[in-house]
Formats: sequence, structure tokens, C-alpha cells
Amino acid sequence: MPQLIAPDARFHASFLEAMREFAAEAFLGRTLARELAEHARTWHDPAGFARYVETVLADDSADTYWYVDGAAFLGRIRIRHRRLLPPDDLAGHIGYGVRPSARRQGHATGMLRGVLPHAFDLGIDPVLVTCDTVNTGSRKVIEAVGGVLEGERGGKLRFWVAGGGSKTGGGASSLAWKNRRSAP
Ligand SMILES: CC(C)(COP(=O)(O)OP(=O)(O)OC[C@H]1O[C@@H](n2cnc3c(N)ncnc32)[C@H](O)[C@@H]1OP(=O)(O)O)[C@@H](O)C(=O)NCCC(=O)NCCS
Repeated sequence: MPQLIAPDARFHASFLEAMREFAAEAFLGRTLARELAEHARTWHDPAGFARYVETVLADDSADTYWYVDGAAFLGRIRIRHRRLLPPDDLAGHIGYGVRPSARRQGHATGMLRGVLPHAFDLGIDPVLVTCDTVNTGSRKVIEAVGGVLEGERGGKLRFWVAGGGSKTGGGASSLAWKNRRSAP
């Protein structure tokens, strides 16, 4: 059964396969483009990959989770810590991607549903999730977890997901591996 975990160097081989799949797509997301520029030359090597994982874990601006099943890396999801986003923010609080070979099996929906309690525990409530107007798959994912459409801005649909204003009281504790407070 798939689960959300902290980034872990044990998934080296499967992670690299997944990144090759992502990199073969026409559109590279911002995170992947940056990572390919900064780490692709070194992450093939186990020591280089361990350094990459450390870099992700040490990122104070966001929490990144990997979605894995057995030894297989399926996708990843990132919660940005900033509770208050600038008005011109297009990316929202949460970004995610599922490797092309694992799509349309409910994984993005499972990942987003799984990290929302952690975002609420970080004090991010409601959560802004955006997607390109043409990204039907992502739109369905956001709607499946209760996202309410605010409207469109800059080519992005903006959805808000509310947690009811209350923390989950430890319900997300298995995910709270960083135990950080979000920035304002
Ligand atoms: C968008 C993305 C995350 C969807 O991942 P996924 O694991 O395939 O999504 P799910 O399997 O949970 O699918 C949820 C719904 O969307 C539908 N769907 C998924 N991809 C679709 C597509 N390309 N076109 C139309 N519908 C699609 C699924 O059939 C499912 O519909 P259902 O609830 O009616 O059965 C994945 O395609 C991806 O990583 N894309 C590249 C990165 C990206 O766009 N990230 C999102 C940034 S906002």
C-alpha cells in the first residue's frame, strides 16, 4: 500500500528512474528544473544522492514527502511553509507530481489527501492549491479532496481547502517528522 514518507536515500534507483520519466516530459516543473541543474550531475552516485536527500530534508522553506509503495518511488509532494502568500503568488501552498508510469491510479489524490492534515498542523488553514487551467488531472485531484474554486489568475485555477481552523491534534503526527512551525 502506498505511503507518504520522508525523503530516504534507500529509494535511489527508483527515484532516478522516476526523474528520467519526468525529464522526458515536455514541461519541467520549477522544482525539477532546479534540481536537474543542481543535482543531476551528482545524484547518480550513492554519496551524491545521500547529499541531495540531506538538502531536501534541510530545506527550511518547505516539507517534502515522497509517496512510495514497497521499493517503488511513485511521486512527491511539497508543502511550502509560508502561511501568508503574497497576493501575486501563483504556486500556492502545495505542489506535487506523480511519475508518468504511475499516473491515473489515484496516487496524486492519495498524496494530497494524506498531507493536508500536516499542512493544517503547520497552521496553514485554509490551504491554497493551484493548477494550470488546462491541467484536468490536477483539477480533479484538488476537487476530490474538497478544494473550493476561488477563480482563475495568471493562467492558474485557485482552490482553497479548509481544515476547519482546528489542528488535527496529532492525527498527522506520523507525518510531522520535522516538527517545525510555519513562517508567517
Ligand atoms: C496531475 C497529476 C499530479 C495527476 O496525478 P495522478 O496520480 O494521475 O492523479 P489521480 O490518479 O489521483 O487522478 C485523479 C483524477 O484525475 C483524472 N486524471 C488524471 N490525469 C488526467 C489527465 N491527464 N486528463 C484527464 N483526467 C486525468 C483521473 O482519471 C482521476 O479521475 P477520477 O477521479 O474521475 O477517476 C499528474 O498527472 C502529474 O504529476 N502531472 C505533472 C505535474 C503536475 O501537473 N502537477 C500538479 C501541479 S498543480
